[in-house]
Amino acid sequence: MAIEVTATGRGVPSRRIANDDLAGRMDTTDEWIRSHTGIGARHIADTETATSDLALEAARNALSLAVERGAGEKTPEELALTIDLILLATTTPDYNGCPPTACIVQEALGARNAAAMDLSAACSGFIYGLETAAALLNASPERKRALVIGAETLSRITDWEDRATCILFGDGAGAVLLEKTGAPSAGPERRGLVRSLIGADGSGAGRLMIRRGGTRNPFKDGETLEKGPKIEMDGRAVYNFAVKAVAGAIETLLREEGLGIDAVRRIVPHQANARIVQAAGKRLGIPEEKFYLNIEEYANTSAASIPLALDELNRQGGLDRGDLVMTVGFGGGLTYGGNLIVW
Ligand code: COA
Repeated sequence: MAIEVTATGRGVPSRRIANDDLAGRMDTTDEWIRSHTGIGARHIADTETATSDLALEAARNALSLAVERGAGEKTPEELALTIDLILLATTTPDYNGCPPTACIVQEALGARNAAAMDLSAACSGFIYGLETAAALLNASPERKRALVIGAETLSRITDWEDRATCILFGDGAGAVLLEKTGAPSAGPERRGLVRSLIGADGSGAGRLMIRRGGTRNPFKDGETLEKGPKIEMDGRAVYNFAVKAVAGAIETLLREEGLGIDAVRRIVPHQANARIVQAAGKRLGIPEEKFYLNIEEYANTSAASIPLALDELNRQGGLDRGDLVMTVGFGGGLTYGGNLIVW
């Protein structure tokens, strides 16, 4: 039995903010942002839209594609009823802790037979999510289908007065349908998720954080806030960690599978900074074209960035059945990891 990705989807707000739009509001330039990050624009949700709305759009999009490609069920609604698990990775839940955003998506999707939970592993959330969902599907013969979603409205926790961080982030969602199938999970014909690496270095927890609003630094009754909870970051330290984490994860996954990089059709990295990916690739002698980057259009959408990129690549016909795809990423925590998937 294999745990295969059988469909992908995405939900992206239509409002697009180009670098030049930001340059009109703060002391920055399109040239600086592009040369330091590879980012050209980001999509920002309107005030009525929360993380679950983007997640729902991505989930519906994935279910529609699954039906189109012959999932067996006639409509996305019928398919939704067969989902056993919704796992939603996010740093920006609709509500602070309760209810899980996944439950809001479950209700709106009509997936009433699905268990639903959120996963918090910052920008590595989707990588952790794939491994977690696959383990839960494997743990019970009753469970056959899971939706793994990465969704964020980072614009809500972005400090728009801090030019060093606000240029980096955007909103969006991506989703994959994971299915237990009769295909082999080992041998030359193997399919689906074949290996994951998930790791963390908690000593770097303070390098990237949302300081206020949790139980460590709660808001106090009567407190007047100048600013809501915002992302704070030591950019240089995160950059250095990220280059090592990306290079290390690629090396480890290849070594553990006994493969060379030529066996991998595409690497879909977390889209935080194109320079991080380029530096990691250079370290390992991997050509830049091996990495699929869409950061220029969407900026860093945290847990959404990998599934959003996977969906783009999939719909462009950039992946054929049997191709080996690698995801790799890092984020707050500090967390890191990667997945190897036979498409
Ligand atoms: N526009 C123009 N200048 C800017 C700027 C902006 N948006 N942001 C910072 N600068 C300035 C700084 O003030 C500094 O000026 P100074 O030399 O006069 O002091 C100069 O640019 C260099 O700043 P520095 O912070 O050293 O830049 P950098 O090359 O390290 O790039 C990041 C900054 C944030 C792009 C980079 O550190 C990074 O990408 N880090 C990883 C962040 C990340 O990926 N976080 C999410 C993880 S999931």
